[in-house]
Order: sequence, then structure tokens, then C-alpha cells
Amino acid sequence: MTRTLIITGAGGVGKTTVAAALGVRAARSGLRTLVVTVDPARRLATALGVEDLGNEPQPHAAEPNLWAAMLDSTASWRAVAMRHADPDVATRLADNDFFKAASEHFPASQAYAAADQAATFVQAMAWDLVIVDTPPSGGGIDFFAAPAQMADLVGGRLLRWLTGGPLPGRRTFYNLAAKPVLRIADSVLGSDLLERVAEFLLDLRTTYDGVAQRGREIERVLGSASIFVVTTSDPAPVREAIKFYRDLPGLAASPAAVVFNRILPEKWADSTAPPGTSLALEQNLARWSAETVRQRDTREEFSSRYGARIATIPWSTSPPTDLDGLGRLLDESKELPWAEVGIS
Ligand SMILES: Nc1ncnc2c1ncn2[C@@H]1O[C@H](COP(=O)(O)OP(=O)(O)O)[C@@H](O)[C@H]1O
Ligand SMILES: [Mg+2]
Repeated sequence: MTRTLIITGAGGVGKTTVAAALGVRAARSGLRTLVVTVDPARRLATALGVEDLGNEPQPHAAEPNLWAAMLDSTASWRAVAMRHADPDVATRLADNDFFKAASEHFPASQAYAAADQAATFVQAMAWDLVIVDTPPSGGGIDFFAAPAQMADLVGGRLLRWLTGGPLPGRRTFYNLAAKPVLRIADSVLGSDLLERVAEFLLDLRTTYDGVAQRGREIERVLGSASIFVVTTSDPAPVREAIKFYRDLPGLAASPAAVVFNRILPEKWADSTAPPGTSLALEQNLARWSAETVRQRDTREEFSSRYGARIATIPWSTSPPTDLDGLGRLLDESKELPWAEVGIS
């Protein structure tokens, strides 16, 4: 069985780093592990061996049991069209200006393509654990909502109304009845604008069955995954994490843990300056002590208000940039639900 662990949270909180560190730990505990990473910093990509290897999973040269792949953050509707439409239709769609415009303005398309790609790796059944780092848009919610949104879009009421009943007849209708009208409109507008809109809508509609079915498969994969919501103790990412708790029900399983990353050492909370300390140092200590207490309060409030399991990863003075650093990052973490992802 392949277990799936999805790492989500706001941008910049350490998702990619934590995904990589968990991957190293899992691989070293004997699990065949694939880390699917998104836009890693260059040194982290080098450490994982994915620098320019792209989105096909690659075995790590120096770490047995570890594979890594890049989630293609430019993957978009084009990939979706290629997968779900007839080749002719797909090419026509991809070249259609409205398709290009729509794919740029429909934010879930990237998240959908990413979720689709991740689900494909899970379904390949080639690994014990697939760890999926998520694209930063929408605090990760997009990633879970995308399959349904995509199906809604191509099967939605607006599109059904515009393109109407059984497709073959409808296209004939467009050709016989609408085309002359469109041609007149075109001659007025000086282009084949409307005809291209109609063609786009009809072509898009043909992808519905494929998109809807694949969407259900992706949702099954996401629904059986464990989820770690990563955050720092800062207000903005914590708000994102809360949003995740509020909006997630129904979209996927509830998160296994909220992982507070970059926390300050507990013992700083009640550090007092020894006698004779300079005023500046005393104030500095007091400030860090107050910040440590604030971080602890934030975690306690999150836990009591949302019933969340709280895990922590300490702030590291030298962020990990190689395998051993990644391996060490989690040494002092607390409460990570290892068993949930199959690591003993
Ligand atoms: N526990 C930590 N201690 C210190 N620095 C960290 C820690 N976790 C992550 N970082 C650093 O924070 C920055 C953002 O991390 P990254 O993993 O790229 O975040 P995200 O993927 O959420 O955008 C990176 O420079 C990374 O090295
Ligand atoms: Mg990242």
C-alpha cells in the first residue's frame, strides 16, 4: 500500500524544507519514499537530486529508498486538455485564444494539474510513501478543491446552457443555425471572434466526462492522504492554517497535525538575565522571552480552539541545505505523528 502525506500551508513557512526532511527520515527508516517537491530553493533541489531533472521521479544517487520529483508548477489546463480531450480537440483547444485566456484566469487550473500529477504518482503504487509538497496558492485549499471546481467548470450550468444537449447534434446546430449568424457578427466585428468562442465552449464540454471521472479519482487519493498543515507562529500564516481547518471539512481527511515550524527553544521563555548584565542585553533577553511565550500561547490556543494535534520543529540557525542537515532537522521535533505516515 502506498501512503500519501500532503504538506500544505502558507508560502514561506517551510513546507518544501519539511517535506524534504520528512522524505530523508522516511527513506532512512527503510520506506521507499518519493518526495514531490514544488519550486525548491536551488541548494535544496541539489540535495534532493532534482536540480534539473523535472517532473519524472528520480532515484537519489546517494540515498537508497529516496526518490524525488518536481511538481510542474507551469502545468495547466493544457495538460488537462491533452489528457481528457481527443487529440484533435485538445490541439484545437490549446491553440484557442479563449482557452489560453481562461486557463490564465482560472486559478484552480494549476492546483488541479498539480493534484492530478501527484495522484498519478500515488496510483503508480511504486512507493511506500509519497510526500507531496503543495503549491502556495490559496493556502493549499485550492489543491483539495480543484478537482471539484474543474468538473463544475466544464460541466457547469453556464457551459451546459451555452452548449446545450447532446453534443453531436448541438455542433450541427451551431453549424447550420448559429454559423450564419456568427458570420454576420464576425463581418461586423471584423473577425471570427464569436465562432471561436462557440468552438471553444463546445470543445471544452467534450472533456467533461474525463475531467469529472479523473476528478473523483484524485479526490479519492487526496481523501485518504494524511495532511500536515505547516505554519510559523506569525499571525498571517496562522490565519491561513485556521482557514484550512475551517474550510477543509468535506474536501479531505482532517489534518493529522499542525506543524509549527521555526519555533524558539522553550527554555527561552523564562530566561532571566544574570546579575551585572548590561541593560541592552537584559532588554534583548526579555524580548526573546516574550516572543517565546507568545509562540507557546499561539500553539495552545490553536490546539484548544480547533482540537488540532500540534507538532513542533525548532528554529535552526543554519537551515538545512544537504541530506544530513535535512536528516537532523527533525531530531528535536516534537509530536510529529510518525505512525500516521508509517514511520516507526
Ligand atoms: N526549521 C527551520 N529553521 C530555520 N530555517 C528554516 C526552517 N524551515 C525552513 N527554513 C527556511 O525558511 C525558508 C523557507 O522555507 P521553504 O521550505 O522554502 O518554505 P515554503 O516551501 O513553505 O515556501 C528557507 O530559507 C528555509 O531554509
Ligand atoms: Mg515551497
